[in-house]
Amino acid sequence: MTDFERKENDMKATRCLREEHQVILRVLDGFEIALKRSGEKGEATRETYGPFLEFFRGFADRCHHCKEEDRLFPVLEKNGVPREGGPIGVMLYEHKLGRALVAEMTGCLDAADAGEAGGVRTLLEKGGEFLEMLRAHITKEDHVLFEMADQLTRGDDLAALLADYSDAESEPEYCATYARCSRLAERLSAGS
Ligand SMILES: [Fe+2]
Ligand SMILES: [Fe+2]
Repeated sequence: MTDFERKENDMKATRCLREEHQVILRVLDGFEIALKRSGEKGEATRETYGPFLEFFRGFADRCHHCKEEDRLFPVLEKNGVPREGGPIGVMLYEHKLGRALVAEMTGCLDAADAGEAGGVRTLLEKGGEFLEMLRAHITKEDHVLFEMADQLTRGDDLAALLADYSDAESEPEYCATYARCSRLAERLSAGS
């Protein structure tokens, strides 16, 4: 195998996750525009934010984060990356933080939709935090953790991980969520 082929092969440990990051980042760009408009108009409707929250819950968390947590991270731990006090612990903490922020935004959607100033303010505040956190999270994964993963996951581990991704991606509920949220992403991405 040539060096180039080896590099191509090694990249596969995180390829699907890196591709999903691009989908999430495009939706985050659309989310940023929506937040800016809401800030200017002082309104945040369910019609605008319901689909974004559904995408964040379904695509980013149910599909993408679960593949990281249940499939990739255990392989890294097995190869010596510590869970506590290292990058995996930070990533897990940020996944939890993202879930909490999405839950808080969902919780104030009724009040925001009804035009209550407090509801709109909370939604925009939490939305801004979520946007900033998830962009930074993706940057850290792409440039730090996934680089480590591509280096560490080789041979049998790599083959087992790819099979594991396929298992996860063939669960009926995963497939339905992924398909529904991919359609949402086309609508929610900036520029679409
Ligand atoms: Fe992550
Ligand atoms: Fe990720």
